Amino acid sequence: MMGDDLLLRRRGGVLFLVLSAVLVLLGGGADAGVTSSYRRKLEATVEMPLDADVFRVPPGYNAPQQVHITLGDQEGTAMTVSWVTASELGNSTVKFGEKPDPEKMERRAEGTHTRYDYFNYTSGFIHHCTLKHLKHSTKYYYAMGFGHTVRTFSFTTPPKPGPDVPFKFGLIGDLGQTFDSNITLSHYDDNGGDAVLYVGDLSYADNHPLHDNNRWDTWGRFMERNAAYQPWIWTAGNHELDFAPELGETTPFKPYTHRYPTPYLSSGSTEPFWYSVKLASAHVVVLSSYSAYGKYTPQWTWLQAELQRVDRTTTPWLVVLMHSPWYNSNNYHYMEGETMRVQFEKWLVDARADVVLAGHVHSYERSHRVSNVAYDIVNGEATPVRDAGAPVYVTIGDGGNIEGVADNFTRPQPSYSAFREASFGHATLEIKNRTHAYYSWHRNHDGAKVVADGVWLTNRAQSYAVFFLDRTKTSSMAIDHQP
Ligand SMILES: [Fe+2]
Repeated sequence: MMGDDLLLRRRGGVLFLVLSAVLVLLGGGADAGVTSSYRRKLEATVEMPLDADVFRVPPGYNAPQQVHITLGDQEGTAMTVSWVTASELGNSTVKFGEKPDPEKMERRAEGTHTRYDYFNYTSGFIHHCTLKHLKHSTKYYYAMGFGHTVRTFSFTTPPKPGPDVPFKFGLIGDLGQTFDSNITLSHYDDNGGDAVLYVGDLSYADNHPLHDNNRWDTWGRFMERNAAYQPWIWTAGNHELDFAPELGETTPFKPYTHRYPTPYLSSGSTEPFWYSVKLASAHVVVLSSYSAYGKYTPQWTWLQAELQRVDRTTTPWLVVLMHSPWYNSNNYHYMEGETMRVQFEKWLVDARADVVLAGHVHSYERSHRVSNVAYDIVNGEATPVRDAGAPVYVTIGDGGNIEGVADNFTRPQPSYSAFREASFGHATLEIKNRTHAYYSWHRNHDGAKVVADGVWLTNRAQSYAVFFLDRTKTSSMAIDHQP
């Protein structure tokens, strides 16, 4: 009997070990980071030539060009239309209404114009006009160029912010104006989002001799096919600085601020580089990696107050944009976001932010839910740890700009990194309701609809009770689901 008993126990022990190994493999497999083995074609990243069709100047004398829109207030009842006239001022009037014929558009708004010099370049006349008192979820047509060449476009205003309002964001960064950029934009067009969260680095004009600002114009014409029809929420990147004392250009962000307005005043900000908007069920906070963020600075002061203003009962999803990532395991721009992470990460963890989006690194990476907020200069606890209450960090600086793909990842892959791949692409974030959103990344070398990395995200605010008890433990409510 003793022998049989021992045998059974041994068999049980072996069975237990086998089962444990299977569980570890399954659990570990789902949890461990993935460095994608996908290898993109080895080819140069080439700027589209100046005579490319996507850069074509629209026909007609002084025709409005480089048309793009962004929210004109915090809640989506205003839209700011921007465009350029090249030959003469024309006017800054926009007619708009629910009928497509400009003659039948019942409302009109008067905008302003500006222009700037940059070394040997003088811009066209840059017009900005905010259309106010719009209804939510309504298709509006708008037209400008009266007196010369009239052009007509349309947009649909975002829905009234509320807890269960579906909305699809496009997530794009570091786009530039190469052939790859064109694929990225086309794929996003095909995937059909409602608004773009853009994480910085727009035209890459500064990569050209004398920061050739004509490349700001070509970029504006390239983007128009999407940006004239849905709002783009802008984040400032390092390529927006255009700081060139050797050219006598010492005003940071000069071309960017003249061309791309943001609705910063409506969220109590004092600068266009940090602000917030509410879109459907999301409260979107935009931060500036290239403005001061130390204690007592304007951005620090604003963010501290802003996080108190976020109302998760109305906008359950808290999404944060910045240019330089806090969690980046690529050697390219490694740890550049570290000082801002040290300054602000605890605030975002305490605020239970859902997703933090960044660009800057020209590849793709998604983190697990992690935080690194325990360090106090003497305790040595300076390592990212799994934290079910913390945001997911996504680096989406893979739009396809002239600088090429960043294919030099640190090894081994750090434990906080869930998926990374050195390819160009874009992502979408589809908010379904107050609890669930589907996030997916689409590499350019596949069709637009192919999901190369996807995850269901569950809302952090809705899971508050779970995390309040123990932030380090997951529960069925807290786990994000890989499809
Ligand atoms: Fe950058």
